[in-house]
Amino acid sequence: MANKTIKQLTPPATIGIIGGGQLGKMMSHEAKKMGYDVVIYDPKENAIAAQVSNSQVVGGFSDEAKLLEFAKQVDVITYEFEHLDATVLENLENKGYPIYPSAATLRMIQDKDTQKKWLADINVPVPANFPVFTYEQLEDAFNRFNSKIVVKTRKEGYDGKGNIIVKDIQDVKYAYEQFADFDIMVEEFIDFSMEVSVMLVKNEHETVIYPTSYNNHEDSILIKSQVPAKVSDHVALQIRQISQKVLDELQDYGIFCIEFFVTKDQRVLVNEIAPRPHNSGHYTIEGCVCSQFEQIIRVITGLPLGSSELINPSVMYNLLGSDNGKYTVAGLDEVLKIPNCHFHLYGKDISGVQRKLGHLTVVANSLDQANTLADQAFDKIKFEIKGEQ
Ligand SMILES: Nc1ncnc2c1ncn2[C@@H]1O[C@H](COP(=O)(O)OP(=O)(O)O)[C@@H](O)[C@H]1O
Ligand SMILES: [Mg+2]
Repeated sequence: MANKTIKQLTPPATIGIIGGGQLGKMMSHEAKKMGYDVVIYDPKENAIAAQVSNSQVVGGFSDEAKLLEFAKQVDVITYEFEHLDATVLENLENKGYPIYPSAATLRMIQDKDTQKKWLADINVPVPANFPVFTYEQLEDAFNRFNSKIVVKTRKEGYDGKGNIIVKDIQDVKYAYEQFADFDIMVEEFIDFSMEVSVMLVKNEHETVIYPTSYNNHEDSILIKSQVPAKVSDHVALQIRQISQKVLDELQDYGIFCIEFFVTKDQRVLVNEIAPRPHNSGHYTIEGCVCSQFEQIIRVITGLPLGSSELINPSVMYNLLGSDNGKYTVAGLDEVLKIPNCHFHLYGKDISGVQRKLGHLTVVANSLDQANTLADQAFDKIKFEIKGEQ
């Protein structure tokens, strides 16, 4: 994996971000705050990240010619999601365009099977897993893992969309058929006591680890993050050791998220790594000295990393759509009266069922207080659909 010197770029150099969604938008905000120019690459014209950037190149994620056109306009490239064409990015790197994290890291991470093998190779504990190629192998796995498995697409998964939990032999066939067009893998189902995550940052000279976030998911979509997570010393130690191990072994620079399962017997297993800012790190915008979005800009511009110190306990809620169509937001007048409640709306023009439309973060003197105020705020925000589309 690339382990090259990052060229220092001072403003107004131009940063290129592949992917024009909310993560790209929040990265762009930070880059613009620091005086950089930003070009977004996304297939959708007027992508929400482009609305706060200098310009956009419109093109498909595998369109090599368009991506080259984009690369020529920028001084350094990063990305907001991992489902990109690693070969196309590798070709750009070979032409001399710097990309962080590298295409090799992206290739390893974007396939959950190769990612899990990499983790196992560096002795990081993961749920038992293996790739499956036939229906018989899947049925075998179901029996072997005590009739509780998670079937995952090796690539393209997000917000639980590439996962099916199977606890009934009848559903083995369903899962196999649902993922007929994908390479798949199977994992033992972990009856975890909690899910937590950490953000890690690495450049040539230093590493930074953020506080641990306790994450609640509904239908495999993150709904709430509470920081700092209340975990035992034993669990905290395992999280620290695994995080350090991953940082040591990743021959690369960027920001990474590790999602963990904490088992009922207090073991810590890695669920997955993301090579980019992460939803469970949104609290860092108001909760930490330096946000996850500012960190990635610092990494790719060769500047010193910022502090990951938590200023105060923080609770973040995702704000998800419940219906399809154009929408308005109700409840803001109440929500913004809540002290230290920060409201983010991503500017997506169309709502969708469980689509991430925004988030809110409450920072308070105690986690209990942050929870109380965030719960109140979350209850008040409503997205109302503006009629037929
Ligand atoms: N092996 C497992 N056992 C139990 N739950 C799991 C397992 N794998 C995933 N999940 C649940 O599904 C969620 C999404 O799975 P994940 O593999 O992280 O996919 P995505 O790429 O969609 O985030 C996890 O956060 C967790 O709640
Ligand atoms: Mg995940």
